[in-house]
Amino acid sequence: MKLPRPFYQPLAIGAPAPLRELPVKLERMIHFVPPHVEKVTAKVPELLQQVDVVLGNLEDAIPADAKEAARKGFIAMAKAVDFGATGLWTRINALNSPWALDDITEIVAAIGNKLDVIMLPKVEGAWDVHYLDQLLAQLEARHAIKRPILIHAILETAQGVNNVEAIATASPRMHGMSLGPADLAVSRGMKTTRVGGGHPDYVVLADGKAGDTRQKFQQDLWHYTTAKMVDACMAVGIKPFYGPFGDFSDLDGCEAQFRNAFLMGCAGAWSLHPTQIVIAKRVFSPDPAEVTMAKKIIAAMPDGSGAVMIDGKMQDDATWKQAKVVVDLARLVAGKDPDLAAIYGF
Ligand code: GLV
Ligand code: MG
Repeated sequence: MKLPRPFYQPLAIGAPAPLRELPVKLERMIHFVPPHVEKVTAKVPELLQQVDVVLGNLEDAIPADAKEAARKGFIAMAKAVDFGATGLWTRINALNSPWALDDITEIVAAIGNKLDVIMLPKVEGAWDVHYLDQLLAQLEARHAIKRPILIHAILETAQGVNNVEAIATASPRMHGMSLGPADLAVSRGMKTTRVGGGHPDYVVLADGKAGDTRQKFQQDLWHYTTAKMVDACMAVGIKPFYGPFGDFSDLDGCEAQFRNAFLMGCAGAWSLHPTQIVIAKRVFSPDPAEVTMAKKIIAAMPDGSGAVMIDGKMQDDATWKQAKVVVDLARLVAGKDPDLAAIYGF
């Protein structure tokens, strides 16, 4: 195990010092863009008003014969657009693929000073993060990159889930993690054909006798992994995310899945379709009624100590801290969205 002081030293001479705190950023949706499709990348400047993060996807969903074009398209898009406060991320190919090394070396060389985060798929353990950490430090030193590029792991293998705490603590470069339900289903041998969401056969039955028609209650297939991921991330101050929801026609199903993740502690989710941007914005921005209640709690207990009753409900240190989480997030959202700023009363 690395001791605290070396943990925060740069891994290459000339690389920027690792961050001790994550930059405070609004990341309600990580919006996936296929960078080899010019008619999509041409519209990215318009997207910047609507999304918190633009991610150039190089991995799955990009055909093998378009991998090089996607990488080049991402670099061209990153050079051409001023992203302002909107995050610029890429999802590179898996470390065991023929493309990962060129993805990393070419992208850092060309646009390393604009790139916020590399999303690393199919992370199995801390060793995958250590490899990318070291390589990034060498490349940052070579190309005079000013601030460290962060790493976001996708939690999408059974081994990765087993090692989730080691992945979360592998490097000060860790930004966070996303649940990858599609590949995780493969790795676990799940008997499904979906990208995230529930399944009508994953149920419990209400009590009853033989022959009764019993009510079915569908359960959340992802509850266990999401909870494990949230604990591993929040324990060390990095951010958990729900990943993809593949049925673009099921807006209610998507909203329910995103909302479960939000309530459990996730900071955002992936948007793969414009309708999902709207859903993520609605879900991952705090509910105005919750913001009003949180402001009341903070006003009633300015220094967070003691206990008060508000509308018949007990408030104490723990609810004051929950109220702070809600109000701090609402302030971040208000900074990006004037309509919500007015609704929240900031
Ligand atoms: C995402 O990459 C997933 O496999 O769900
Ligand atoms: Mg995947």
